[in-house]
Amino acid sequence: MEANRLLIKNAKALVGTHPKGTLRVAGASMAELPMLEHGWMMAENGVITALGTEEDWPGISDWNGLEVIDATDRYVLPGWCDPHTHSVFAAPREGEFVDRINGLGYEEIAAKGGGILNSARKLRAMGEEELYAGAKARLEEMMHQGTVAVEIKSGYGLDAASELKMLRVAQRLKKTLPLQVRTTLLAAHALPPEYKDNRAGYVDLIIKQLIPQVAGEGLAQYVDCFCERNYFTAEEMGLILEAGNKHDLKGKVHVNQFSSMGGIQAAVAHNALSVDHLEVMEDADIESLRGTRTIPTLLPSCSFFLGIPYGPARELIEAGLPVALATDHNPGSTPSGNMNFVVALACIKLRMSPEQAVQAATINAAAAMGLAEELGSLTVGKRASCLITKPVPSLAYLPYAFGQDHIDTVIIDGRTVRTGETAA
Ligand code: NIG
Ligand code: FE
Repeated sequence: MEANRLLIKNAKALVGTHPKGTLRVAGASMAELPMLEHGWMMAENGVITALGTEEDWPGISDWNGLEVIDATDRYVLPGWCDPHTHSVFAAPREGEFVDRINGLGYEEIAAKGGGILNSARKLRAMGEEELYAGAKARLEEMMHQGTVAVEIKSGYGLDAASELKMLRVAQRLKKTLPLQVRTTLLAAHALPPEYKDNRAGYVDLIIKQLIPQVAGEGLAQYVDCFCERNYFTAEEMGLILEAGNKHDLKGKVHVNQFSSMGGIQAAVAHNALSVDHLEVMEDADIESLRGTRTIPTLLPSCSFFLGIPYGPARELIEAGLPVALATDHNPGSTPSGNMNFVVALACIKLRMSPEQAVQAATINAAAAMGLAEELGSLTVGKRASCLITKPVPSLAYLPYAFGQDHIDTVIIDGRTVRTGETAA
């Protein structure tokens, strides 16, 4: 195999240079973002092999086949990890967006047959090829915006064949695109019309048929459930998580978006990898996350878009927890997969510091999708997946000047997927 060798030199700073073995950062440590000023970084065959500052520059003996990027005045960050998306879907829902502007609520729209069921009708009718093409274009845009790993959920099929179709599309995206993809079975996203009067029957289908089949065919690594009034109860979620654990599908769940109803406690009891949304949190919910391995994951662009409360990032951090960030990219509540905007909102609305927000979108986000051994920091032995900014005055400038595109170059596994001014 042709040796793919890369040197990034003269960086204003390498950001997120955690020592080997740091797989998440929690509480007060979230503010401590390690950086190497005047940094350089070497990668070979897609993996980071060495990095340092001017003082420990070893020199290069073999320039053969070495790609050199001069990052003068630019920051080099670990690429964004996005541990919660619904990026495979059939169609946008801007009609509901206009309905909300005219006064209807997200839950009212769902009650009228809009929302998730609207997406399910369209997805069931669409072939794999078309679904794949739409999702591929969205993921390509996300890579352009600096995302190097993404979690993708099913949940717009709501019958066995269509849920499997979604996961097969996600598997194909994983094989064909350079970014890392992890997939999650979210059959428990809404009660399908066929089971309107038979909730137990649908939960049974998920537990007895879908979870074993999806695990057996390696179509997903995680299982999810929308635990919410009018969707699934904490008890139903507990049954789904228990079945998932038996088949090695860990929980990554939707809880506390509109109400606090015991979902966090049920998720923690089943050792879920992450609890996501958390817009409506009681003190007891935060308390029950303490001392667990479950990662609270906040989705501020969903709050922004729906006009619902923002998650309590500062309280979670003060409780010593590791906060992660994700986009929640989906056609209903967050039609944006832009992690740069999420990081900006984390600072502007969640009042996280820029350092905390970067940690939440890199190392903790990688942890929230089981990828912290390979992504989330600039560390020897990890994947050489990073983004290089345009010349900016400081790290805080990135979320401060929100909405502007600060990215110049994106590299995944040592290969450039977005070429900018740094190109030789
Ligand atoms: O995470 N809350 C549940 N699911 C998605 C929205 C799904 C939809 O509206 O299509 C979310 O916000
Ligand atoms: Fe979601």
